[in-house]
Amino acid sequence: MFLSLILIAASFCGTFAHLEGPNVCIRQETYTVKARISEEQPYQVREFVWCLNVPPRCSKYKIKHKTVHKDQNLVRTRPVEECCKGYAKNAAENQCIPVCSNVCLHGTCVAPETCQCETGYGGPNCDITCDKGLWGRECQNECECQNNATCDPFNGHCSCNRGWIGEFCQKRCPSGSYGQDCLEECRCENGECDHISGKCKCHSGYTGPLCDDPCPIGTHGYDCKSKCPCQNGGTCHSVTGVCFCKDGWTGQVCANRCPFGFWGYNCSQKCDCYNGASCHHINGTCECQPGFTGDRCLDVCPDGKWGKDCTNNCTCQNDAKCSNKDGSCSCAKGWTGKTCNERSCPKGLWGFKCQNSCQCNSDNTELCHAWTGECDCKPGWNSKDCTRPCPILSFGKACAGTCKCDNNAQCSPINGTCLCGPGFTGKQCEQPCPLDSFGMDCAQKCDCKNGATCSTETGQCHCPAGWEGQQCDRPCSNNQFGMQCKNKCDCRNGASCNPVNG
Ligand SMILES: *[C@@H]1O[C@H](CO)[C@@H](O)[C@H](O)[C@H]1NC(C)=O
Ligand SMILES: *[C@@H]1O[C@H](CO)[C@@H](O)[C@H](O)[C@H]1NC(C)=O
Ligand SMILES: *[C@@H]1O[C@H](CO)[C@@H](O)[C@H](O)[C@H]1NC(C)=O
Ligand SMILES: *[C@@H]1O[C@H](CO)[C@@H](O)[C@H](O)[C@H]1NC(C)=O
Ligand SMILES: *[C@@H]1O[C@H](CO)[C@@H](O)[C@H](O)[C@H]1NC(C)=O
Repeated sequence: MFLSLILIAASFCGTFAHLEGPNVCIRQETYTVKARISEEQPYQVREFVWCLNVPPRCSKYKIKHKTVHKDQNLVRTRPVEECCKGYAKNAAENQCIPVCSNVCLHGTCVAPETCQCETGYGGPNCDITCDKGLWGRECQNECECQNNATCDPFNGHCSCNRGWIGEFCQKRCPSGSYGQDCLEECRCENGECDHISGKCKCHSGYTGPLCDDPCPIGTHGYDCKSKCPCQNGGTCHSVTGVCFCKDGWTGQVCANRCPFGFWGYNCSQKCDCYNGASCHHINGTCECQPGFTGDRCLDVCPDGKWGKDCTNNCTCQNDAKCSNKDGSCSCAKGWTGKTCNERSCPKGLWGFKCQNSCQCNSDNTELCHAWTGECDCKPGWNSKDCTRPCPILSFGKACAGTCKCDNNAQCSPINGTCLCGPGFTGKQCEQPCPLDSFGMDCAQKCDCKNGATCSTETGQCHCPAGWEGQQCDRPCSNNQFGMQCKNKCDCRNGASCNPVNG
């Protein structure tokens, strides 16, 4: 019986339709079940045992148990799903829908006692309609809604479109929000949301769906549409496009070198260079003006050099000064011409107005100075008018050289070359002629016989003993003998003597 009761309860439970969706409330419901309960009930029994009494039976009590069955009402609880207050089951009995006690005529019941009216209808029961822009029982009021918001025909309340807010939908969503009732939060990082769609409109210099990417290198501005105009490696500000120039460059688009006298970052370094020099616009190395040199262009070109980096050779002559800047010559007095190599007077004349005639011997003179009239003699000549040859043992220009010749040789008054006498040779006439030659430049051959030697100067033969004659080719005669046949033979009786030793 007890078991079958439980079963009935279970099957009753199973017949509840299961509710889905919102607005379902759960209540604990109590119920009673009848149950038969069995119980051990104690009872007393009297027994007789043997004892010393009279009669010898004594009574004794003992507790025993018996099972009794009882019907009992048990109170139980169980959860029951039911629609929350204000809701009722729908026709299919599987959901809870709100209940509006008055029917929503042109609308739907969206919450307990709340009709949501179709557009154009209003009032608690959505039974009021007015022409667009009007509201009230008699549609006597004008709607004040703006921005295409619809107006409740019952009370004139505005229901705003996405992106608008305010009593009359007159305000855009405040910055940072968008959408229906401005409830969405704007996520643009460097830009503004469209108040209706939430789409980001990036600030100048940014791009990407959330405007979190700076413009790609080389572009800037709104939508990164502007191309960077910076030259020479300059980069541009992603927002404004202003150029940041590399060292040594300046100008709006970095197209200009630093102005004269400046270099480096932002052209803010001053050149440390002198004599009008500027410096390299990037690294500050001095770039000297022509005619100057040194790290800081402090030095004038060395003598004889001119121009940029002093690489040109001066071509000025006759003691002219050479400009270190352009190599031009400032001639000394008496000279003219580009390189000062021309006399400033016609040939044979000299003086301030070329009014004097030169007194120099024209054959022996190199130059009659056009300013002073002084004679510049050719080598080998001397004296005021170049008529006197160099004194002995001197030579050359102004007879300033001293001859260095041996064996009494003369030297050329022009170039100092030794002019050897007969019998000598060598640069300084220091060597006698080689054997078997003699005379000027040792040009002649000796002609001596019988082992005679020959004078290198004259070619005269020195005969050995026993020989005589120009070429020593004759033996001594006339009973003579010995060197130069000077000795008389002393042999008797007609005997001849040895011509060498007698
Ligand atoms: C209102 O709606 C009309 C037509 O739908 C449209 O042309 C107009 O731009 C809208 N005005 C506003 C402020 O949304
Ligand atoms: C670069 O030079 C300009 C003009 O001299 C100056 O206005 C600017 O502040 C300088 N910029 C920097 C970073 O020094
Ligand atoms: C500076 O730059 C110029 C040109 O690039 C180069 O010739 C020169 O050697 C540089 N000077 C220094 C000190 O780096
Ligand atoms: C200058 O003279 C030197 C030596 O006299 C020569 O080596 C050099 O080439 C010359 N320079 C010029 C530019 O003529
Ligand atoms: C030196 O001068 C003489 C004339 O006096 C000439 O014959 C000779 O060739 C000259 N020598 C040189 C090396 O010029």
